[in-house]
Amino acid sequence: MANTIPCDGLTFSLYKDADKMMMYESYYRDGAWDAGQLVPFHPIELSPAANILNYGQGIFEGMKAYRTVKGKIVLFRPEKNAQRFVRSSEKLAIPSIGEERYLQAVKEVVLANQRFIPDSADGRCSLYIRPVCIGIEPLLGVRPSREYLFYVFASPVGPYFEKVGVVRLMVMDVHRAAPNGTGDAKAACNYPVTMRPKVEAKKQGFDDVLYLDPIHNRFVEEAGAANFFALMENNVLVTPKLGSILPGITRESVIQLARDRFGLEVQERELDVQEVCERAKECFLTGTGATITSVESIGWNGQEYNVNRNDFQLAHRLYDELLGIQLQKKEDPYGWIVELT
Ligand SMILES: Cc1ncc(COP(=O)(O)O)c(C=O)c1O
Repeated sequence: MANTIPCDGLTFSLYKDADKMMMYESYYRDGAWDAGQLVPFHPIELSPAANILNYGQGIFEGMKAYRTVKGKIVLFRPEKNAQRFVRSSEKLAIPSIGEERYLQAVKEVVLANQRFIPDSADGRCSLYIRPVCIGIEPLLGVRPSREYLFYVFASPVGPYFEKVGVVRLMVMDVHRAAPNGTGDAKAACNYPVTMRPKVEAKKQGFDDVLYLDPIHNRFVEEAGAANFFALMENNVLVTPKLGSILPGITRESVIQLARDRFGLEVQERELDVQEVCERAKECFLTGTGATITSVESIGWNGQEYNVNRNDFQLAHRLYDELLGIQLQKKEDPYGWIVELT
């Protein structure tokens, strides 16, 4: 296809020519957001005392724009990300940009960067969109900023995990989020704690960390940037209940597809890691980056458990359904797809 970039060689990282792309920015000062505008991708100048640099008052989102088999450029359930962004703002005492402004900014960025949306018939590559909002006021005492920057940039990306489609997860003695904390918001502060465990897991040959709840150190929460599902031996699909995990939009979509398309019973409940390791037939991760990624094994309690006793079948079928809708290869009875062109 003309005027696009090739999918081959793209990984989940910032594009080498990001500085040739457009971004959107809007400032909040004196109690109001300015009109906002599209500008070339550029560095941001901040005071060394800016809230975000010292106290981390920042939130973000992650979405993808796809070039579909119908030749359209589409977003997947963007209003859900807008709603989550507003909820994350509230949680961190950030003045909300509002769902409408958020959606408008995302659309403008996608349309301005059309030529960077990779051509990918199998959906492995797409344009990743990153809306962010940060407190930029210089301050010393701990309090919410009175000035903010909302911006949206984008990058063509390939698959999130280096090994496409299958990962090994490691349970570690680190917790990602506390009850009544910020785990259910897409807040920048949730991620630094995952850096060291991820490095350690990789050193030991795993791809990511599987986090357990911080009270009992027993119930599965989620991976570093993806939600977790286990198909149990009685063919019930179980996913950890909401609370301190991120309410993933892929998670919500997969629950609906599993029920509607495959007639599966889906339970959102506490999921004991021992139950998963010993009795799950199949496990997988869901997320905008991860799409649906099968879990081959889980390292827990000094052992590595093979949790693939189903030949990854359900993950493959769900992947085909989800990608089928996202790439307009399949009907979209839910109205999940928003066409931008
Ligand atoms: C911690 C965490 N959990 C889950 C997810 C999956 O959420 P979504 O499906 O909305 O992308 C993400 C983001 O991708 C995440 O950062």
